[in-house]
Amino acid sequence: MVLDTPKHYPVLLNEIISIITPQHGGTFIDCTFGQGGYTKKILRYKDTRVIALDRDILSKNNADNISKNFKERFVFKNKKFSQLSDLKLKNEKIRAVIFDLGYSYTQIKDPSKGLSFNSSGDLNMRMGINNFSAKDAIHKLEMHELEKIFKVFGEEKESKKIAKAIIKERQSNEITTQKLVELIKRIKKKQNKIHSATKIFQALRIFVNKEISELIYGLISAVKILKKDGILIVVTFHSIEDKIVKYFLKSLSENKSVSRYLPKVDQSAPLLKMFKKKPIIPTQKELEENSPSRSAKLRYAIKDQDFYEFKSDLLDKFKHLIEIENLGVKL
Ligand SMILES: C[S@@+](CC[C@H](N)C(=O)[O-])C[C@H]1O[C@@H](n2cnc3c(N)ncnc32)[C@H](O)[C@@H]1O
Repeated sequence: MVLDTPKHYPVLLNEIISIITPQHGGTFIDCTFGQGGYTKKILRYKDTRVIALDRDILSKNNADNISKNFKERFVFKNKKFSQLSDLKLKNEKIRAVIFDLGYSYTQIKDPSKGLSFNSSGDLNMRMGINNFSAKDAIHKLEMHELEKIFKVFGEEKESKKIAKAIIKERQSNEITTQKLVELIKRIKKKQNKIHSATKIFQALRIFVNKEISELIYGLISAVKILKKDGILIVVTFHSIEDKIVKYFLKSLSENKSVSRYLPKVDQSAPLLKMFKKKPIIPTQKELEENSPSRSAKLRYAIKDQDFYEFKSDLLDKFKHLIEIENLGVKL
């Protein structure tokens, strides 16, 4: 349990507000509610409504506080955003669907989550609504499977050596967070700017929370929910996420992809409209106030058609990543 909840700084908040313009009212979906930084700001504008989702049940405490003041205009669901299409929206026109990916400062500071290499406890890493923990993965997967996870999700050059050392260590000892950090440090002796365990921890977190599958299914559902002029906004924090978002938005905003849409629609127009090719990044001022925002990239697009059915090759394009996440089914 987090006693003195550390505060999360909502990344690129001003930029998001200027894109979604809540001063005109309407309903918004905050897919990654966290401490409600975006939600609270949107609700300050009259005639707005927010439907918020978060997989972490602890964020419900923040939601309950907001509900006290905005009972009629705010609803929270402890759901994963891959379940977006389960929302009963009754044909409601959604002005924007917003994703602020990854984890919050509150979560990283929560020792029970084991997301940080400074945590002293179990290798957990579950953000919420998970089937297994990082400890399960480390103790039960085969060497080549661990190596693949580290190499692809962490881009870790020493993946093989680290996987081998884990297999050896786990024969006689339980691998805790600190044991894993020590093991990595033994292998990666060279001092780098980033902590030597950063890449392995990122890889395990992505795997445990199925972050790639979540993002892909979340994006597809979001575009289906939106109607014409609805906005899809995504803030990413690492290159794999950004690559997926960039590909998805770009492929649906180009004419060449329209041939994949179902018939009976305007075949000449793409589904999405993108105004900026380059991502929006935090200003120098924001970086000074909140250093974890340094890797944030915001991309957005506006739905330019009213139809719901469309085809995206996103699942095929990133099949190799989904297959790695699916190694978790046996855990
Ligand atoms: C970076 S924080 C969001 C912070 C929030 N924008 C704020 O201002 O307080 C990301 C949040 O998304 C949640 N999350 C991550 N993946 C999710 C998923 N697949 N479905 C639902 N929530 C998710 C995490 O539990 C975390 O609370």
